[in-house]
Amino acid sequence: MEPLLTIEKLSKTFNPGAHTEVRAVQDINLEVTAGEIILIMGPSGSGKTTLLTMIGGLLSPTSGKIWFENKELQNLSQRKLTLWRRENAGFVFQSFNLLTNLSALENVVIGGFDLKDRKKRAAGLLKRLMLEDRTNARPDNLSGGERQRVAIARALINDPKIILADEPTANLDKKIGHEVMDLLCSIGCEEEKGVIIVSHDERIKDIANRVLYIEDGKLVREEIGAHNKVCKMKKRKNEE
Ligand SMILES: Nc1ncnc2c1ncn2[C@@H]1O[C@H](COP(=O)(O)OP(=O)(O)OP(=O)(O)O)[C@@H](O)[C@H]1O
Ligand SMILES: [Mg+2]
Repeated sequence: MEPLLTIEKLSKTFNPGAHTEVRAVQDINLEVTAGEIILIMGPSGSGKTTLLTMIGGLLSPTSGKIWFENKELQNLSQRKLTLWRRENAGFVFQSFNLLTNLSALENVVIGGFDLKDRKKRAAGLLKRLMLEDRTNARPDNLSGGERQRVAIARALINDPKIILADEPTANLDKKIGHEVMDLLCSIGCEEEKGVIIVSHDERIKDIANRVLYIEDGKLVREEIGAHNKVCKMKKRKNEE
C-alpha cells in the first residue's frame, strides 16, 4: 500500500549558527500508512512537538522532505498549504488553543461551511467524548480534561486523513483517558486514518502499531505496539 505520509531526512535547527542553536530534529525518516497508529515517545525537549508541527505543515523544516499522498508539502504555496492542512490534518495541541468566547460546541464547529451538518457531527463527537452536558459551556468554565476533549473533537470535525495529537491524554483521569484512546483507536482501525500521537503515557502503547523513541532529535529505537490485538478485539466486540 502507498504510504499516506513519507518523511525523508527531516531536520529542524532553531537559531542556526547562533550560540543558542538547537538541533531539535535530526535526519528523521518515517513512513505512515493509512490505518496506522504511531506513538512517539521520548524525554522532554527531545523534539517530539517540533516533529509533529513540521508534519502538519505548521513549521517549515531546515532540511529534508515531507510527502503526503505524493504531494510534497514544501512545494506548496502558503495558501495551498493552509488549504491542505484544513482538508487533511487534524491537530490536538499540547496547549488546547480553544477560543474563550465560544462555547464548547462552537469551538468544535468553527471553521467550516456546511453548518448544520457540522453541528450534528460536533454534537456526536462531544457525546462520544462524554461531554454532552457541557456543549454550551465556554472553555473558562471547563476543566482541563474537558477542554482537552473539546480540542480532540475539533481536530476530528473535518474528518482529516491524518490526526496529529500532542499529549492527548495528559490531563485526563483513567476512565476518560481510556475513552479518548478508544476513540483514537477506532479512527485508526475502523476509519483507516493515519494517527500520530506524541505522549509519555505508556497505556497508549496498547493502541499503537508502532512505538518510536526519540532522543536529542533522533529516532533511536522502534517497537511494535499492541494495536493489532486491541483492534481485533474491538472489531469482534462491534460484531457481537
Ligand atoms: N521556537 C523555538 N525556538 C528555539 N528553540 C526551540 C523552539 N521550539 C522548540 N525549541 C527547542 O527545541 C527542542 C525540542 O523541543 P520540543 O518542543 O520539540 O520538545 P518535546 O520533545 O516536545 O518536549 P516536551 O515533552 O517537553 O513537550 C527543545 O530544546 C526546545 O527548547
Ligand atoms: Mg512537546
